[in-house]
This record gives sequence, C-alpha cells and structure tokens, in this order.
Amino acid sequence: MEEKIYPDSGVELNPFTARNYDKVMNIGSFGMYRGFIKKAISNMEIKPDDQILDLGCGTGRNASLMLKYLDDNGHITGLDISEHMEKQFRQKFTDDKRVDFINTRIDHPLNVNKIYDKIFISFVIHGFPHEVRDAVIRNAFEHLKTGGIFYILDFGEFDMDKMPWFDRFIFEKIECKYAFDYIKRDWKEILKGYGFENFSEYFYLKKYIRLLKTVKQ
Ligand SMILES: C[S@@+](CC[C@H](N)C(=O)[O-])C[C@H]1O[C@@H](n2cnc3c(N)ncnc32)[C@H](O)[C@@H]1O
Repeated sequence: MEEKIYPDSGVELNPFTARNYDKVMNIGSFGMYRGFIKKAISNMEIKPDDQILDLGCGTGRNASLMLKYLDDNGHITGLDISEHMEKQFRQKFTDDKRVDFINTRIDHPLNVNKIYDKIFISFVIHGFPHEVRDAVIRNAFEHLKTGGIFYILDFGEFDMDKMPWFDRFIFEKIECKYAFDYIKRDWKEILKGYGFENFSEYFYLKKYIRLLKTVKQ
C-alpha cells in the first residue's frame, strides 16, 4: 500500500505494523488477545461445511482459528488490500484448498462470484468514514445467502466520558477519529436499515469489544 485511501484511517496499517501485526496485538493487549479471539471465533458456531468470507482478513490469524471448525467441504475467502497481510495470509495456508485470498478493496463492489453462509469483519469497519461503512455493509448483504449470518467483531457502543481514565487514555492514543464516531452509533438500528434482523451480542474485554451477530432476512 503506497498511499492511504482514507488518510485519517487507523486500519490502513503502516508496513511495520502490518508485518508484525499478530505480535503487536499480543503485546499491546498484554497477552489477552490470544484468549479473547479464540473465544470470539468459538461464539460464531461455525458449521463444518460453512462458506465464510473474511473482509479485511489481515494475517489470517482469525481464518486459521475458523479453519479448525471446517471439514473438507468448508471454505474461507480472505479479502485484504495489504501486500504485507497477503504474504502472511498465503504463507499460513499454502496447500490448503479450503482457503483462498483475494487482494481487493472491501469498500468497492466486490468482484467475488459467490454467496456465503457467514461473513466476518473484525477490527476493520470502525476505521472507515461512516459513508464508506455503507458500501462495506452493502457488500456483506449482497454476498450472503438468505438466512446467512453477518458478524462484526469490533468495538462495542460505549461512552468515552464514562471510561476509567487509563482505558480512555489508551483508547484515545491508539485509535483514529473514525473509531470515536463508531462507538457512538446504534449498530443494530443501522443494520436493520439494510435488511438485517435477529441480533445477538457477545462481549469481551470489559465489554469494550463486541461480536455482533445478525441474520440476512
Ligand atoms: C486492524 S487490521 C484487522 C485485521 C484482521 N481483520 C484481524 O482482526 O486480525 C485491518 C485490516 O483491514 C485491511 N483494510 C483496510 N482498509 C481496507 C480496504 N479498503 N479494503 C480491504 N482491506 C482493508 C488492512 O489491510 C488490515 O489488514
């Protein structure tokens, strides 16, 4: 990635962070990331033959956890724009036909000729300007089967003014301005506007993180 598409976005990572992303997350979370992400993926209740699309898939860490639930009929497609992420993702799944990767933007109409049982997006959507989130949600809706499930693993909805000062200090230091906007919105209401219904939520890490599950009607 040469220039950022959205200069104020925190999810278009610099090359160093992208190359070391998994380590950065382990260290930055004081070791909590490993346990939390396993729990979140287990909450997805993946079926052995699920066809899964991972939007902004990063290094493939999440895909490798999902893969444990799939048999030979299951499949994961990861989409990302970062060449550094692509390299790590491809290295993880060399020779595994159940996984593929496409280097493409998720905020443009997807050039993907398939519909999925589950679509997952983790720690990406908060980092986009709100009008760009619209394009991503439309893509998710279009590429899900009826009855298919959309999972957003990301920040929950919370009031920064009510955060303990240390949590707030860290959040303000590491996050971009779009994240501050993301946490204020009512995501169930927003998703209903696209035709999603039937919501469930799972919370982690003092409820700052949420897996929001919703079904395409
Ligand atoms: C914070 S990382 C999260 C990675 C992964 N989902 C995870 O949870 O480990 C954000 C990812 O979104 C990707 N990304 C950012 N903007 C994108 C865009 N417009 N289209 C596709 N991927 C994008 C980045 O390259 C990066 O891999």
